[in-house]
Formats: sequence, C-alpha cells, structure tokens
Amino acid sequence: MLIAVPKEIFSGEQRVAATPTTVRRFVKKGFEVWVESDAGLAANITNSALEAAGAKIISDTTRLYGNAEIIIKVQHPSFNKGLDKHEIDIMKSGAVLIALLQPLTAIKTIEQLTAKNISAFSLELIPRITRAQQMDVLSSMSSLAGYKAVLLAAAALGKIFPMMTTAAGTLHPAKILILGAGVAGLQAIATAKRLGAVVEAFDTRPAVKEQVESLGATFVSLELNADEGEAASGYAKVLSEAAHQKEVALIHERAVQADVIITTALIPGKKAPVLITNEMLKAMKKGAVVVDMAAEQGGNCAQSEAGKEVDIEGVTIIGAVNLAATIPEHASQMFANNMFNFIKHLCPDLTCKIDQNDEITLGSLVTHAGQIVNEVVKSAHEALKVPEE
Ligand code: NAI
Repeated sequence: MLIAVPKEIFSGEQRVAATPTTVRRFVKKGFEVWVESDAGLAANITNSALEAAGAKIISDTTRLYGNAEIIIKVQHPSFNKGLDKHEIDIMKSGAVLIALLQPLTAIKTIEQLTAKNISAFSLELIPRITRAQQMDVLSSMSSLAGYKAVLLAAAALGKIFPMMTTAAGTLHPAKILILGAGVAGLQAIATAKRLGAVVEAFDTRPAVKEQVESLGATFVSLELNADEGEAASGYAKVLSEAAHQKEVALIHERAVQADVIITTALIPGKKAPVLITNEMLKAMKKGAVVVDMAAEQGGNCAQSEAGKEVDIEGVTIIGAVNLAATIPEHASQMFANNMFNFIKHLCPDLTCKIDQNDEITLGSLVTHAGQIVNEVVKSAHEALKVPEE
C-alpha cells in the first residue's frame, strides 16, 4: 500500500503531512511511503531525514500522485500552475485522499473528487469524541493558533504584557480579554498568563468557567437560563436576539478596559457571531489590538478582514488566518501524528476499510464510489447552489 506525501502548493502553507517519525511508523507497519522532494523543507524537515526514516523522495509530482493509493495532505487539492493541471486530475481513480478539505464550502473540489472516484476524508469532520482525540487535527491546530494569536497581539501592542517595577517607574500589566474559551481560547488564556498579562475570558457555556479559572483567568459571566447558551450536545448554541444583546452589552463593558482582545467564538457549521461592534471599537482604548481568529468564518469583529491588519478608530484589528502554518515545525509534528493515528484507524491491516458503521470513518468520509456520501456536506452544498434561471 503506497502512501504519497505531496509538497503543499497552497499559498502560505508551510506544513507537511508526514515527519520522519510518522514515516518510520508507517514503514514499520508495512506501508511504502513516497514524499515529494522538498515537501518538508518549510517545516525544517530535510529530504535526507525523511529518506533515513524509510521514505522514497520523488521529484516528479505527476508520478507521485499517479501511483499513490493513499494521498495525505494538509490543504485541499488545488490547481498546480507549474504542471498546468489540477492536483485531482493527476490522482489515480479510486485513491484515498485525506486532508483538510473545507468540505462545506469547497463545492467545486468536492465535485471534482466525486467525478474522479476518490474516497476523500476531511479531517475537519472527524467527530470531537474521546476515541478520536488522537486524530483531532482541528484541536491540535487551534491550540497552536491560540498561542500564536497572543504573540501577534503582543507584537502589535505598544505596551508589554507583564507588570514591571523599575527605577524608571512601574509599568502596569496589559489587560487581555478572550472571547470564546474553547480549544483556541484556552490556549490563548494560558499564553497570555505566561506572558504576565491580566486575563479575563467570556464564553456562553457556563461549563468552561472552571477551566478558565484553573488557568488563572477571571471568567466573565452572562446570566443566561441553563439551556440558553449550551445545547444538550455540550456545544454552544446560537443565542436568541435578546440574549445576544445582553452579551454584547457585557462585552462592551469589558472591551473598553482591554488592551488586547482575542476572539475565538464559534458554533460549528455557523457563521461566527459578531461580538465586537463598531460602537465598541470607538469606545476602546487607542492603541488596543484585536486578533480575530474567526476572521475566515465572517469574523467576531464587525470590521475585521481575513488575512489583513486594519486600523479602525485607533484600534489595530488583525484578521488572523491559517496561524498554525506559521509554526510549521510543531504544527507538522502534531498534524502528522494525528494523520498517522487516523490511518491506523482506517487501514488497520494495510487495507483501507471504508466501514460506514464506524462513527469516525462515516463522520469524516466526504466522497466515495463517485458520490458525496456525507449528509452534512450534501445539505451544505444544496444550500450553496445558486438556483438556475
Ligand atoms: P471551539 O469550538 O473549541 O471553541 C469555540 C468557543 O466559542 C466555544 O467554547 C463556544 O462555547 C464559544 N462560543 C460560541 N458562541 C459564542 C458567543 N456568542 N460568545 C462567546 N463564546 C461563544 O473552537 P476552536 O477550535 O477553539 O476555534 C475557535 C475559532 O478559531 C474558530 O472560529 C476557528 O475557525 C478559529 N481558528 C482560527 C485559526 C486561525 O489560524 N485563524 C486556527 C484555528 C482555529
């Protein structure tokens, strides 16, 4: 069974889907591993380190894709300008593809994968259940991104984070507000605390209060009825208009005190809630910094622009995208380990079992046997299709 690891061609992507450690583990299990030449370079992984682990280094991209039975990638396939071909066009029909496919929005890619009869698994759709924790790429990447978001804020702020008592006077610690205390938010809290800031965090799920406090931050509570902020599944739910207004008023109170706001609020499959309004930006301290981690999902800040840094009313707003790719060494290490565990689950004895009774396989399988098989993806695509005239 041949696993191929292509060099990522998506703009700004520096991660790679395998490391010498995971190559060694694949080879030990009996897989053959081909890695495209220089695929690991941006993550400081050399061809020779991969070769020493048992991989074969391949310079010919078409040959790599064309022979692969399993293709493992970070980003969804895209058009390769150098080859003048789409990556899907050079895949072998019937191959297995595992990557971050953005399946809810990438209609064209999913259609191409269906037409090419690829069995495509989307790592974003791996259910967040205990059994799948070792494969949970989204959590690994969110955690790194939460860390990096705080560093970006620290670099953009005209102040330091910790308190400093010096002969030249006392510097007061920076005040950081974290909105959303899920995976990214909790790591952002921990990072800001380590840098010496005074941290408070808000989330609509009261269940996270204890976790926030265990990291040394203050939990900002919104008085909601028990079932208003959290669904029976344990995930946040969309607030009623009245509850949302209460939430915005509470955030306004805290935002005007803050030097930095990191926003990470998200309900899976929904547009990000707008939590930082124009009125708040006007009332905030000049020089304050907002890092909007939900910028690609529409933004938690009314004015954020994905991939850009803008200045509104003297507040710097960073529309952060793909932060994990900016820490390619550790991000590749975590990504590759998650990928290895996913393949170990999918192909326990060198054959990939598409067991549609298994929650992890069924949850993450998007296309198979020439069809879109994932119901969530199917309905998202139906909703996005523009009706014909
Ligand atoms: P998560 O699902 O673990 O956490 C989201 C949190 O937001 C949950 O605790 C939820 O209760 C909370 N929330 C939902 N609605 C809220 C509201 N109205 N007010 C306050 N809190 C609310 O998600 P995760 O993995 O932490 O990701 C957070 C965000 O960061 C997502 O938008 C994700 O797409 C984004 N992200 C961005 C990256 C980047 O490079 N910019 C990288 C990784 C994640």
